[in-house]
Amino acid sequence: MLTGKTVIVGISGGIAAYKTCEIVRGLKKEGAEVFCVMTVSAQKFVSPLTFRTLSGNPVITDLFDEDLNNTPVPHIALREKADLVLVAPATANIIGKTANGLADDALSTLLLSVKCPVIFAPAMNPVMWENKVVRQNSKKIQKLGIKLIGPVYGEVACGEEGTGRMAEVSSVIDAVFDLLNHKNDLSGLKILITAGATREAIDPIRFISNRSSGKMGFALAHAAKRRGAEVTLISGPTYLNPPANVNLIEVTSAEEMHKAVQAAAQKQDVIIMTAAVADYRPNFTFMQKLQKRADTMSLELTRTVDILEELGKSKNGSFLVGFAAESNNLIENAREKMKKKNLDLIVANNVEAFEEDCSEVFILDKAGEVEQLPLQEKISTANSILDRIVTRVSPSRKDRA
Ligand SMILES: Cc1cc2nc3c(=O)[nH]c(=O)nc-3n(C[C@H](O)[C@H](O)[C@H](O)COP(=O)(O)O)c2cc1C
Repeated sequence: MLTGKTVIVGISGGIAAYKTCEIVRGLKKEGAEVFCVMTVSAQKFVSPLTFRTLSGNPVITDLFDEDLNNTPVPHIALREKADLVLVAPATANIIGKTANGLADDALSTLLLSVKCPVIFAPAMNPVMWENKVVRQNSKKIQKLGIKLIGPVYGEVACGEEGTGRMAEVSSVIDAVFDLLNHKNDLSGLKILITAGATREAIDPIRFISNRSSGKMGFALAHAAKRRGAEVTLISGPTYLNPPANVNLIEVTSAEEMHKAVQAAAQKQDVIIMTAAVADYRPNFTFMQKLQKRADTMSLELTRTVDILEELGKSKNGSFLVGFAAESNNLIENAREKMKKKNLDLIVANNVEAFEEDCSEVFILDKAGEVEQLPLQEKISTANSILDRIVTRVSPSRKDRA
């Protein structure tokens, strides 16, 4: 989503510099070209070699570096390339220098030279962040048009608690994305997404579940949020970090997911059901851990509510998307499911996509069109699915949005 964009990442001397490695990786993963500029203090925390390796580009640490002979005025050369400058972490020092127009190293000089959007992700001890001069300088740079992301409340590296932690890596990347990406085509639309597997308890520690990781649903939530939608994400247990600024509702069982979907569904413009909800649950949940006794045992199971089918029957103008994971007769089974459950679109994939970071899916619509998407990262698949949805959602819904 950032293909063709160049982001200059400035790193100043705070302990949070190690998190900036993940930011650079994330930006690269989104397709951005990344150049890093480090202050002298930043190099005490992370080596330029790390950023050179992660960004795939030389790192600027010194305006007068002999190695930059081919680029006589490095800060101007970088300015020409930059679509956005991100300073993360932004120390009290770089905030103060920028607020007062000081340019005594590569990063501060670059910051005075650029015309593109600039984001600072401050990080420092909470007492420093509260300091009157730092407050004044922060306000001053905001007035100058620099966007601040964070700092956030929490425990900082020195063990103190307060506001001073650098914003989460995903929030910083989202902020870059928001400023660079003008594709706001889902703005105003309410989208409900379900994700992950449910767990149907046998006893206090055992359950019936499946291999769904939640990655596809989380990728859709991420992409929809970035494209301006108001996102509700109902998820079974996962180990994934939820996207920033979505309404996350965590559930465990199919029954809980059913209730959560029922409560949220009426208000939605689009509902995307990626969750692999258990079809059956044990008739009975033992209150105490089952002990092993007989050589065999059997569990009696009861059908759970088919949430997707119920949504298909009661849908009130919302655009309903289902997922079908099949091990055989993929297209045929998906087509049948779409019809039976009154879906507007169905995304079909082989069961091999479970738990993977990439997927290769088919998209089927009511008109009988079948489109195959290439094998790609789930975030790219998510965006392609949203592209197909946005062209099909009723214009009145989009107008109202
Ligand atoms: C271990 C350690 C951690 C530091 N962490 C921070 C920090 O998180 N935020 C900050 O503003 N300064 C921090 N400092 C102080 C800065 O490194 C110092 O003010 C330095 O001059 C900043 O230079 P720069 O802005 O050019 O990188 C830290 C210093 C040390 C020794």
